[in-house]
Amino acid sequence: MMMESKADTTDKLKLNPPILLINFKAYPQGTGENAVKLAEIVEDVSNSFKDVTFVIAPQTIDLRLVNKVVKNTKIFAQHVDPVHLGAFTGSTPPELVKKVGAVGTLLNHSERRVAHEIIKKTIEINKEVGLITCACAGSPEESGKIAQYYPEFLAFEPPELIGTGISVSKAKPEVLKKSIENILAKGNGKVIPLCGAGISNGDDVAKAIELGAKGVLVASAVVKSKDPYSILHEMAEAASV
Ligand code: G3P
Repeated sequence: MMMESKADTTDKLKLNPPILLINFKAYPQGTGENAVKLAEIVEDVSNSFKDVTFVIAPQTIDLRLVNKVVKNTKIFAQHVDPVHLGAFTGSTPPELVKKVGAVGTLLNHSERRVAHEIIKKTIEINKEVGLITCACAGSPEESGKIAQYYPEFLAFEPPELIGTGISVSKAKPEVLKKSIENILAKGNGKVIPLCGAGISNGDDVAKAIELGAKGVLVASAVVKSKDPYSILHEMAEAASV
């Protein structure tokens, strides 16, 4: 019997680009009942853009709640730990987030960094349990390194631009291009490159896609907006093929 390589396993955990991933972080506007309201808005927008994959990443504690109100929209956890079910107090096993509706998870987000051996191990366990990983990297070098662990998605997010409203795609096009190159080369074309940090409008999304990203991660511009529907609609229009 042929052994399946890690890269082959990746093929089974697919979400079709373009991807619009909205990270709710721990913003008050994106937690508890507000997480539910925001998820409903994302779902609403998603109904107008069948070719765009909408993903939301709420707090772990809100996964079960938001799962009740979305259908097209995919749900990711913000972080999981490299453990199975068992005696792991305070850890979040990938199996459990899957059970409450998540199809994937962020990993190594700039606000939740972990050691590379943990990234590698977590991706392995996620593949075993059938959870998609969107790993994050803060530099082109780190992008290349993490791509070798074959997460399904890898988002380049320069930490200094996160939450600033200054878009990675406009402020650092060359660095973003290098990062995407590294992801594609080191991940043998199996890892889908995304980017995030400071993405604020449709132009920022269009520019990211023009540079080779297959979608974006966005937080403050949507979650903290007075009109998340409009901004998301604008971003989806820009991402739509
Ligand atoms: O995960 C996405 C996030 O880190 C980007 O944050 O607020 O710059 O869109 P923001």
